[in-house]
Amino acid sequence: MGNEVLKAIRGRRSVVRFKPEPVPEEALQEILEAGRWAPSYANSQPWTFIVVRDEETKRKLGQLVERIALARRGRVAISGQGVGDAPVVIAVVVDPWRDPRHFVEAGAAAAQNMALAAHSLGLASYWAGIYEPGGGRRSVEAQVKRLLGVPRELHVIALLPLGYPAYQAQSDRAELAELVHYDRFGRPEVV
Ligand SMILES: Cc1cc2nc3c(=O)[nH]c(=O)nc-3n(C[C@H](O)[C@H](O)[C@H](O)COP(=O)(O)O)c2cc1C
Repeated sequence: MGNEVLKAIRGRRSVVRFKPEPVPEEALQEILEAGRWAPSYANSQPWTFIVVRDEETKRKLGQLVERIALARRGRVAISGQGVGDAPVVIAVVVDPWRDPRHFVEAGAAAAQNMALAAHSLGLASYWAGIYEPGGGRRSVEAQVKRLLGVPRELHVIALLPLGYPAYQAQSDRAELAELVHYDRFGRPEVV
């Protein structure tokens, strides 16, 4: 792989267990900067990042994410681990009033920028998915919002626990040949 950006994209893995060492403040600021520089529709920047370091709040967030993980167990490989134990959790909040059409995509771009920045600094994270459109007051997302004091009309699309990885995570992907079609859908072609 040719350069540092490509290496980071290929090398980033979701990590759910972290060492207890704190995240250096400088690294945290670099990660937040990476989120700030994400693209958004018409540069609407519909995001806010909440840096959660309070132990009790992290523990409660972890319990809430665990609830989603339990509900989905057996269907997909997800977990709520790590959120309670990570030195820092970043909540990615988006505001549909600032961008009614693309707030989710913009928040996702910011989250991925931060995940890549974390990886490039030797840290790790994973995307704990809690966004539940139309989820109602009892949804996990609504409870996370209440816990963090996020106004009702906003959404929390991701929690990113951050820390030094406690293990080396593995992952794989479908081959490009299975994903790429040329000129029209359904026309895979080797170039
Ligand atoms: C929208 C989204 C939601 C996700 N939600 C969870 C989650 O709730 N729990 C979890 O353990 N991983 C979650 N992940 C991480 C994926 O499981 C992970 O990205 C995937 O398995 C590929 O592994 P890799 O990131 O290490 O390449 C989520 C990822 C995305 C993009």
